[in-house]
Amino acid sequence: MEQQNKNFSDDTSSLWRDTVHLPVFSSLKENKTTDTLVVGAGITGITAAYMLAKSGVPVMLIDADRIAGGTSGNTTAKITAQHGLIYDHLIRTIGEEKAGLYYQANKEALHWMGKHVSDRGIQCDYEIQPAVVYATTEQEEKQIEKEKEAYDRLGILGSMAHSIDLPLEIKNAIIMPGQAQFHPLMYLHELLADLVKLNVPIFEETLATDIQDPKSEPLVMTKQGFGIRCQHVLTCSHFPFYDNRFYFSRMFPERSYLIACETAGDPPDGMYISAGAPKRSIRGLRLNHKNYLLIGGENHKTGRGESMAVHYQRLAEFASVHFGLETAAAHWSAQDFTTLDQVPYIGRLANNNPRILVAAGFHKWGMTTGTLAAQLMTDLVLERVNSYAELFSPARFEAAPMLASFLVENMKTAGQLIKGKVSKPAPLDDHLQRDCGMIASLHGRKVGAYRDKHGDLTVVDATCPHMGCEVNWNQDERTWDCPCHGSRFKANGEVLDGPAKESLALLFSESDHQSKTQNT
Ligand code: FES
Repeated sequence: MEQQNKNFSDDTSSLWRDTVHLPVFSSLKENKTTDTLVVGAGITGITAAYMLAKSGVPVMLIDADRIAGGTSGNTTAKITAQHGLIYDHLIRTIGEEKAGLYYQANKEALHWMGKHVSDRGIQCDYEIQPAVVYATTEQEEKQIEKEKEAYDRLGILGSMAHSIDLPLEIKNAIIMPGQAQFHPLMYLHELLADLVKLNVPIFEETLATDIQDPKSEPLVMTKQGFGIRCQHVLTCSHFPFYDNRFYFSRMFPERSYLIACETAGDPPDGMYISAGAPKRSIRGLRLNHKNYLLIGGENHKTGRGESMAVHYQRLAEFASVHFGLETAAAHWSAQDFTTLDQVPYIGRLANNNPRILVAAGFHKWGMTTGTLAAQLMTDLVLERVNSYAELFSPARFEAAPMLASFLVENMKTAGQLIKGKVSKPAPLDDHLQRDCGMIASLHGRKVGAYRDKHGDLTVVDATCPHMGCEVNWNQDERTWDCPCHGSRFKANGEVLDGPAKESLALLFSESDHQSKTQNT
């Protein structure tokens, strides 16, 4: 599995996935009825299903793909309330009281997870660790000083340092003690086992496409044409599958990258992240009698980055220069959504409809945020008071301070739309290499062409079915990525990530396998 850092293989499976086999569930093949349907089986959906089932609510869990197939299986797996340098920002944008609530909500989620691991005796390499943000420039140094002032105002336990337990030259750092790291799939494996024991029906490869009767008794329709009648729907999918509130214009998608390098000695204690760019996220890992250093970063808007290989190479260079690590045991990437004010959307999709709840926009901090979202949505279903409901309410979009961010993000999106429309790709010819893709023109039409490892060509319409932007080819993931709102598609056009619900139109395929896949 190990590879020289200069030569990353095509295998982008995470170390988490390589070391845990999650159970397999069949797809839904009939109509169903339940009280609460949870859509999306990552940490948010699985935890919400667990909390609801433990409270006696009949619940069902479905996922469009495989269990934990999205961000939960590709995370850095830090469980922390230290979300980079966020508290000074939050005090300035949403005020001290709400910034304090944000901290409390995440701290409670951290404690819930720690207690759950301890009470249930879950073996998931859970370790208490300090979380650290470090500065390497004078500007970042000042930002960290401001963050410490924010900690003090909010009563957050934290300390300053001028050196850290890593071979990096830093200006200063802020440390939040008592945070944690773990193996996310070992943790979810146990939660899933509990769901099975609680008789919660679970279905994989069951794509929810629409909700009928959303205000009375919602009927969630699947791509296969089956319906699930319920009282509440929790949309915990990466992107809300039911989007009548224009979430696509209120969040922006980013991709980020991780490499895992085996180390000779013990990995360092602590979970680190750089204050500035280029973003570097670092933590140690002991797994199956081996030690690793995980190094992440290189964030960029989906569909707008350089070749993915460049991002892995930069992380590899960082590992080599600072840690003398020349080989990576694994490398992978993740996609995350960030909201306009960096506070996730958790709560009712619309204020006047208590039946459809949403959790999205975790800003790369999904372990704690996913857990607090599960608790908040559980409380809403059970009509219990939750102190954080207003803070995370998706309805806060109406607030004026967010409008500036809204306009800026949508101007950028409009720019991508125009850029895609005016670009003139080269004609499709026979020079496309095996296992490569490209945007090309074919009979005056803009198409995406991919030639697989056997030499078979697949051609799709390059126009994203969501709102008409032109997709770009992602060579490392072999996907078509939309730069406007982050939809992603397989090489044969099948949709992987929303907001798009439809596939890219398949124009031509020489591959029998791909043709069959398209027709199923
Ligand atoms: Fe919105 Fe592609 S995701 S246009």
